[in-house]
Amino acid sequence: MFTGRAWRVVRFGAPEQAVELQETTWDAPSAGQVLIRVRAAGAGLPDALMTAGQFPLLGEPPFGLGEEAAGEVVAVPSGSRFSVGDQVTGITAFLEGWGGYADYAYLLEGSAIRIPEGMTDEEAAGFPIGFRTAYTCLVDRAPVEAGQTLLILGAAGSSGATAIQLGKALGATVIAVAGGQEKVEFCLRNGADHGIDHRAEDLTARIAELTDGRGVDVVYDPVGGDIAATAMRSLTRGGRIVVMGLASGAPVELDAMELLMRNQTAVGVLSLPLDDPQAEAAAWEHLADLAARGAIRTPTGAVHDFADVPRMIAQQGAPAAGKTVVRVATA
Ligand SMILES: NC(=O)c1ccc[n+]([C@@H]2O[C@H](COP(=O)([O-])OP(=O)(O)OC[C@H]3O[C@@H](n4cnc5c(N)ncnc54)[C@H](OP(=O)(O)O)[C@@H]3O)[C@@H](O)[C@H]2O)c1
Repeated sequence: MFTGRAWRVVRFGAPEQAVELQETTWDAPSAGQVLIRVRAAGAGLPDALMTAGQFPLLGEPPFGLGEEAAGEVVAVPSGSRFSVGDQVTGITAFLEGWGGYADYAYLLEGSAIRIPEGMTDEEAAGFPIGFRTAYTCLVDRAPVEAGQTLLILGAAGSSGATAIQLGKALGATVIAVAGGQEKVEFCLRNGADHGIDHRAEDLTARIAELTDGRGVDVVYDPVGGDIAATAMRSLTRGGRIVVMGLASGAPVELDAMELLMRNQTAVGVLSLPLDDPQAEAAAWEHLADLAARGAIRTPTGAVHDFADVPRMIAQQGAPAAGKTVVRVATA
């Protein structure tokens, strides 16, 4: 048994009232999980939704927060492909109430990878969900081919910024859309070929300019609402929109007649582990390999101290650019 601290939601509400640091114990992991000593944990918008009681996949408090974490394996069930001492990152058992903002965390073994050489703890902690989601979208569900043009909305956000990295690794030309020059510059530093500031520029006109009037092959949409509806005007005949989020508060409204007339496809994506464990393992191996080769890298943004978790959650309504991470412990 392991004893330590864990940030837990004890009631729904504003983070300062809803989240408490508690002493907790962790039993030996059950089959399909490993227990790690956490060094860093990935953070983001879902923390705010979970704390406010607006996350559809979780029930009533109490439950732990933190969907992904990186650290050292301290216990494994028999038959595990991991050993005590392995350095790993993966998705936590947060849906069972055990999160990553804690001294220890259960990782789902099917989502865990050994941390590639050269990857920092912060990069490792912010790697699993963003990249697995982008992979589901851009490899499995709406494959982007080399040479195609990929428009990414919310491109400075957690989902968008990882999609820039994966889109580039797949050989696409990436146009990143973000609010404000600072975020656009973040996207360009993060690998985007072009950036559009949706607060200052006409989206449709800029896309036409950048694509010689052709439009884009794929729209990656974590935002929805008006901006996604506007982006649809720039989708090529035969193009695809990946409907994967609603950061604006509402999903994109699609015109079925337009889809029909222009031979377009709308692909809805909820990134969940594949039913086939071998296919799921292959996806993680591909991502780990891309990271090991330096083809993708976690677009880390703000790094918060462990004590700062409630304040970090409160900031998720208007996050800074990049993937937010919580530093739990030093090596
Ligand atoms: N389907 C899945 O499997 C899956 C997985 C992960 C996340 N998601 C969903 O994806 C969405 C984004 O998550 P995230 O973690 O990337 O959030 P995030 O880090 O907060 O980023 C969201 C981005 O959306 C942009 N945005 C918000 N409102 C906007 C508006 N009205 N117009 C234009 N841009 C707007 C913001 O960009 P600017 O400030 O630059 O405008 C922000 O950077 C959420 O709905 C989340 O639930 C889905």
